This record gives sequence, structure tokens and C-alpha cells, in this order.
Amino acid sequence: MALDIVIMAAGKGTRMKSNLPKVLHKLAGKSLLGHVLDTCATLGDAQVVVVTGHGADTVEAQAAGQGRQFVRQMPQLGTGHAVLQAVPKLQDGGTTLILNGDVPLIEARTAQALVAACGSTNLALLTVNLADPTGYGRIVREGSLVRAIVEHKDASPEQRAINEVYTGMMAVPTAALKRWLAQLTNHNAQGEYYLTDIVAMAVADGVPVVAAQPSREAEVLGVNSPVQLADLERRYQRAQAEQFMEAGVRLADPARFDVRGQLHCAEDVEIDVNCVFEGEVRLGVGVKIGAHCVIRNVQIGEHTHIESFTHIDGQDQAVQIGANARIGPFARLRPGANLGPEVYIGNFVEIKNSTLAQGAKANHLAYLGDAVVGKNVNYGAGSITANYDGANKHRTVLEDQVHIGSNCVLVAPVTIGAGATIGAGSTITKSVPPGQLAVARGRQMGLDGWVRPVKKPKSS
Ligand code: UD1
Ligand code: CA
Repeated sequence: MALDIVIMAAGKGTRMKSNLPKVLHKLAGKSLLGHVLDTCATLGDAQVVVVTGHGADTVEAQAAGQGRQFVRQMPQLGTGHAVLQAVPKLQDGGTTLILNGDVPLIEARTAQALVAACGSTNLALLTVNLADPTGYGRIVREGSLVRAIVEHKDASPEQRAINEVYTGMMAVPTAALKRWLAQLTNHNAQGEYYLTDIVAMAVADGVPVVAAQPSREAEVLGVNSPVQLADLERRYQRAQAEQFMEAGVRLADPARFDVRGQLHCAEDVEIDVNCVFEGEVRLGVGVKIGAHCVIRNVQIGEHTHIESFTHIDGQDQAVQIGANARIGPFARLRPGANLGPEVYIGNFVEIKNSTLAQGAKANHLAYLGDAVVGKNVNYGAGSITANYDGANKHRTVLEDQVHIGSNCVLVAPVTIGAGATIGAGSTITKSVPPGQLAVARGRQMGLDGWVRPVKKPKSS
């Protein structure tokens, strides 16, 4: 049976005090609307209709994807009016699930339970009991039967005492939804077309109104302000942290751990405080991550240690690190860094688009860009590849067992043959054959009898 999902995402989000449309603000590195859309994608082949309004162009550009449709609501005259805009897209004879673009953590099983509670004959509401229900629509019951939803601003003092509230999500038989939406009026405290008024219409039509509940409160929390966004982010991160710890990952502090993407951990992974993982990150058996690391799009081999304050960014070209490597502290690995096993990268070393074979070392203050580095190469402190001539990037090749002294400039393109040694302070512009010692620096002179100038004493 056809399932249509309407996601309301037209609202301005005034309290965010931001130029960015509210549903595009990010939680765990993904937009609020992106979370809802990803959950929808797991609900079979439902048609998804997103109602846009404020910042519609931007929202539609970011949310575009397979099987997604957009309808615009301008101006925004209420939640009932929002769903009304989607009516031409909704398939008669099916069920419509209504979700909110600013309630990101709704889970697929809760949405499925809501659709099941609808069962193509009932009006199913997702409700929750709140200690402080202020601002929400109240679920008015007679005995156990739901009779209506009354908005906070329209509610009597007795109704305001009700703790069961409407979460903004429901599942409705589509044909009935269309009939009810056509009858909505805006005769209420806010002068809006309330979607919630269809509950009393269902009761009048003899359609059973049922309620389902989420398994966790965070599933139904909406984002209206930066404070709520940060609160939901912490709840989300805490829940992720607990899942990782249950799977055996040792987190120094689950409250100082952020995953904004997919983190995959093998056994015996240890992660110190204040690390941020972005994109797709895979950590092998026994990997240790020191404090204060930012790690994006990287695969790290078994028993490798990433020391504190290291920044790894495989942005558009994933970084690869082999087994038993030592990286950092204060290292920076950029896109295309591909490090073999037992590679050592020390403090203030930057590596971009370069392959380092087993056992290569760059321990201090160095840059390797567009380079191919052989086995057991030792790359001295302060040395750099001059890989860019202002227009083109050129490659540097360092064959196995090469030793680059301190403070060398390797002007690419250049190849240093296997086992060759480059003296400290050399500027290398020509390739060096295997085994040779190349020194390219001014010769040291000694001037005897030279006298250092001295300042004349100030006469008082
Ligand atoms: C709504 C419910 C209320 C419920 C609460 C849960 C109605 C009338 N009331 O109230 O019972 O307890 O949600 O959070 O439905 N939107 C549009 N177009 C509009 C108006 C709203 O797209 O014209 C979108 C908003 O962007 C938002 C969602 O619909 O994503 C809910 O709107 P909001 O104004 O926050 O509803 P509430 O007044 O909080
Ligand atoms: Ca409102």
C-alpha cells in the first residue's frame, strides 16, 4: 500500500536568529532535514514530499535526491496549510505520514509503529507525556479515547494541566486527510490553519483516533533555538558514545567525544578526550587516538597510534595509514596522504598527496607534497618539497633508504636515487643518482682577524 511522507520544512525559525533556514542547521555534521530524509530512506519506497517556504531555493538545492518532491508554501499560514500544499502529490488509497524537518532524531521503528497504528483506517498520533507541556498542543481524551488536540494558546486552564502532548507527527489515511484539510478554518488564537484540527473532524466522522509513543524523548524534540540545537547535539553524541562503549571502544570521556559521520572501530580502540571524527573513519585493532585530534575520512591500520593535537583531513581523497605507525603530536595529514606500515610522522610535519613506504620517517617540521617516498627514507627536520611552480604541481621521488638532511629544499620535479644522501641545507634542483652524496649549499669560509663592531659608550 502506498506510503507518502510529508515533511514540513517551511517555517522561518525566527528564534535561531540566523540567515540559514532552520532545517539546514547541522546536528552531528548533517542538516536537521538531512537526518529526517535519511530516516525516510529506510522506510521502503515511500514518496517523500518536502514542504518548503523560507529559504526554499537553498533548502531544495540541499535536499534534492532520488524520489523526493518539493512543494512550496508561501506565505506560511499554519501546519494544516503546509500539508494542504502537498495534497496534489498524495496518492489516494494510501497512508500519509507527517514529519517535521526540525525534529531530526525520529527513528525509523517509531515512524513504522505510527504507520502500523494507522493501519489505513485510523488517525494515529505520536504523543508524549511531558513534565512541562507549555507551548505544545494538548491531547484531550474522554476516558481513554482521544477527542481533540487543543493548542496551548487556545487551551483552557484545565486543558493546560494535561501532560500528554502532540509531537507534531501523525499517520493518516490519505483520502480522509484530503477531505479534512479541505474543511480547515483559521478561527483560533493564532489565525492559522491548524493541522491538529483534523483530530476533532476524525472523531466527528467516527474514525478511530489512536496514539503511539516514541521509545526515547529525544526522538520528538524539535529545534527552535541554538540552545535546543546544542542540547540535542549533546544527547545525540552521548547516545553514540554509549553505543561505542558497549561495543568495546574505550572512551576517556563520553561527554567529550564527537562523531559527525561514520566511525567504525575494531577491537581495543582507545580514544582520549576532545576528539572529533568526521566523514568516514575506520580504526583498526588496537588503534589509539590521543587527546584533541580532528580526524576526517581516513583508514588507520592496526596498532597505530595517533598522538595528541593531530589533524587528519582526507577531505576528498581519503587518507590511508598502515599498521604500527606513529603520527604526531601536532602532525597534519592532508588529502591523498598514504602512509605505509611503521611510518613515523612527528610534530609540525605536513603531508599532502604523497605515498610513504614502510618505515619512512619525517620526525620534525617538514613538508612533503606530491611525493613518492621509498622504504626507510629518513626525511630531515625543516626539509620541504618545492612542488608548486605557481601554475603546476610537480612530483618528487625519494627512492628506498634515501637520507635527506635537515633544512633541504627539493625543487620538483626531481628524483633522489636509492640510498643517496643529501647534505643539510641543500637546495636540490637536479636528480641525484643512487648512492651519491649531494651537497648544494654555499661553502663555509673562515675570516681570521675580523673584529666585531662595538657600540660607542654614550657620553653623559
Ligand atoms: C505544532 C502543533 C502542536 C504540537 C507542536 C509540536 C499545530 C497547529 N500545532 O505546534 O500541537 O504540540 O507542533 O512541536 O500543528 N510549518 C510550516 N508551515 C507553516 C507552519 C509551520 O511548514 O505554515 C512547519 C514548521 O517549520 C515546523 C512545523 O511545521 O517544522 C511545526 O510548526 P510550529 O510552528 O513549530 O508548530 P507549533 O506551533 O509548535
Ligand atoms: Ca506555530
